[in-house]
Amino acid sequence: MKEKLQEILENSKEAIASAKTLSELEQIRIKYLGKKGELTLVLRGMGKLSKEERPVIGKLANEVRTEIEKNLEENKSVIKEREKQARLESEVVDVTIPGKSFKVGRRHPLNLVLEEIQNIFMGMGFKVAEGPEIETVYHNFDALNAPKDHPSRDLSDTFYINEDIVLRTQTSPVQVRVMQKTKPPIKIISPGRCYRSDEIDATHSPMFHQIEGLVIDKNITLGDLKGTLDIFAKRFFGVGTKTKFRPHYFPFTEPSAEMDVSCFKCGGSGCRMCKGSGWIEILGCGMVHPNVLKECGIDPEVYSGFAFGMGLDRIAMLKLEIDDIRLFFENDMRFIEQF
Ligand code: DAH
Repeated sequence: MKEKLQEILENSKEAIASAKTLSELEQIRIKYLGKKGELTLVLRGMGKLSKEERPVIGKLANEVRTEIEKNLEENKSVIKEREKQARLESEVVDVTIPGKSFKVGRRHPLNLVLEEIQNIFMGMGFKVAEGPEIETVYHNFDALNAPKDHPSRDLSDTFYINEDIVLRTQTSPVQVRVMQKTKPPIKIISPGRCYRSDEIDATHSPMFHQIEGLVIDKNITLGDLKGTLDIFAKRFFGVGTKTKFRPHYFPFTEPSAEMDVSCFKCGGSGCRMCKGSGWIEILGCGMVHPNVLKECGIDPEVYSGFAFGMGLDRIAMLKLEIDDIRLFFENDMRFIEQF
């Protein structure tokens, strides 16, 4: 039995020394010291021993148990320490690795310019109104006094959803919607998307943006129109900017005009920006036609007003010196990040 105990001690020592994990160590403990463990079996067999042998073997067995327990305990702390080291190594943070860059978006240049224009008009007491992009033929053409044979109504120019519904070709229908539900005085601007069946090129896009303006009150004159738009031009393009009004035709205004501003690049002497003329066309405008007022339930004998409409994309292109409208809609961050 002595030999058996020695053997157990030696074997367990070897096993313990080669154990790599705490669970392996636990298996070893069970194998030798557990209820059905090798040492326990030896102790159970003690009954068969003689009276003289029993205490000797008993003492030895206890020594072996203590020794095994000691070995287990020692190796346990070694393994624990090793596992801790391994964990620390695996959790090491390399502070020299470059960080992930945090992408911050940018305001779209069209929004930047729109905000600037809105602020100028809001400073003069205008409110912002919006209308639907899918519009009725009535609001987009009929109520705006467009003759039945007006070329802009053509199927080749306008996106028709059906006979009565179009993608609005201008922001002017918002005038009708506001006049039909609001009593004068009215003083609004209305920015938004418009659609025309145009071929795409550097200056044309089937989807583009306009800003509409409308002022209705008693005693509004062409002088109010010119004064308001002249202030806008000076605030937006610079204090030295001059304005000039050329007669034009729009179905919904009478008289109608187009407004040019003196070239803000060359000051009017002529350059590439103004194609040598010193002037740049900016917007359409006019005194609201009595037919439009009547259609919207406003008495043209009592009230008068002016309206204007400008292309936001075109104005942003001029101001930011962008030479291709398509850049606005391609979502290329390298473009957007420049503004
Ligand atoms: N709706 C016109 C266009 O798309 C622009 C315009 C001209 C709007 C004169 C107006 C206006 O309100 O009075 O060309």
